[in-house]
Amino acid sequence: MRRLPPVLLEDGCPRELISLIRTILAACKEISFRVGQGALSGVLGSTLDENIQGETQKKLDVLTNQLLKDILLESGYVKAIASEEEDYTVAGNPNAEYIVAFDPLDGSSNTDINSLVGTIFSVMKAPEGSDPADQSIFMQPGKSQVAAGYVLYGPSTVLALTTGKGTRFFTLDKTHGSFLLTQDFAQVPEETNEYAINASNQRHWQPAMQNYINDLMAGETGPRARNFNMRWIAAMVGDVHRVLCRGGIFTYPTDTKDPNKPNKLRLLYEANPMAMLIEQAGGIASTGTERIMDIQPDAIHQRVAVILGSKNEVETCLGYHK
Ligand code: AHG
Ligand code: MN
Ligand code: MN
Repeated sequence: MRRLPPVLLEDGCPRELISLIRTILAACKEISFRVGQGALSGVLGSTLDENIQGETQKKLDVLTNQLLKDILLESGYVKAIASEEEDYTVAGNPNAEYIVAFDPLDGSSNTDINSLVGTIFSVMKAPEGSDPADQSIFMQPGKSQVAAGYVLYGPSTVLALTTGKGTRFFTLDKTHGSFLLTQDFAQVPEETNEYAINASNQRHWQPAMQNYINDLMAGETGPRARNFNMRWIAAMVGDVHRVLCRGGIFTYPTDTKDPNKPNKLRLLYEANPMAMLIEQAGGIASTGTERIMDIQPDAIHQRVAVILGSKNEVETCLGYHK
C-alpha cells in the first residue's frame, strides 16, 4: 500500500503543501492516540469554559485545539490559523504561503460515549504580501481551498483528503504510524435511499425542508414511491464519511429554534472542507439556494445551512427550495 507523500508528489502537489498536510497529520496521530485511550488518559468530560460561540468546551476540544495550534505554528508552514475554539485568528510565519482553518474536534458531544469524533481542516493560500495578523485573509470562498480533509477517529483512524484531484481515503497504520492509501478516487453514488437530519428540530424547519422530509418519510405510499432509511451520528464528520462511502443526503438546515442562531454548521472549518471533499467525489454541497463553495465569507465563525451528498437526491431536495 502506498504512503501519503508519494501519492501527493505524483499528483504534482507542491512540496510545501505536502509538508503542511503532514504537519496536520502529525497532530491528528497524537489526537487519535489520546482519543483511543479514552477515560485512561483523563481527557473525557467538560471544562468550565465556553468558546466565543457560547458552546461549553469539552476537555478534548481544548486539548486537540492546543495540539493542532502548537504543531502548526511551530512548523513554520502556516501564515495564520483559524479554529472553532479560538476567538480570533492566530498569526504564524509571515513568510509562509498557506493558512489553515480547522475544527479540532467535530462531534464533541460524542466524546463521553465512546462514539465517532474527528478533525476537519481546510487549507487556502494567503494573499501575497498579506499581514499574518489580518483576519480578512480568511475571507475567501471555499472554491479557493487548495486542500481539504478530515481525520475520523473511529474503529480505525481514516483520513479523507482532497487537493483538488479527487477524494481519497488513507488509513492510519498504527503499527508504524503512516497513513496508507486505502481508496483512490472515492465516488458518492448518485442515487440513495438514506438521509441524515436531526429530526427533533422538525417543527423549526422552513417549509421547503418540512415538505422534503415529509415526502421521504411517506415512503412507498408517498410521492417518492420508495422507502428511505434514516441515520444520525451527531458528528458531521461521521455522517459525511458514511455519505462518501455509500451515498446519502446529509443536511443541517436553517431552523428557528434559536433566533440568534438560524444555522448550526460553520462555513470555514466545517461546510467548506466537507463541500470540497463531496464535490471532488461527484456529489453536491449547497445551502439550499447556493453552492456552499461560492459563498463569500464575512466572519471567521460564520454559520451556514448545509445540504450535501448524492447528486440526484440533493438535486431533488433543492427542487423543493425553488
Ligand atoms: P462540534 O462538535 O464541532 O461543535 O460540531 C457538532 C456539529 C456537527 O458535527 C453535527 O452534525 C451537529 O453539530 C450535531 O448537532 P445536533 O446536536 O443537533 O445533533
Ligand atoms: Mn464541528
Ligand atoms: Mn468542534
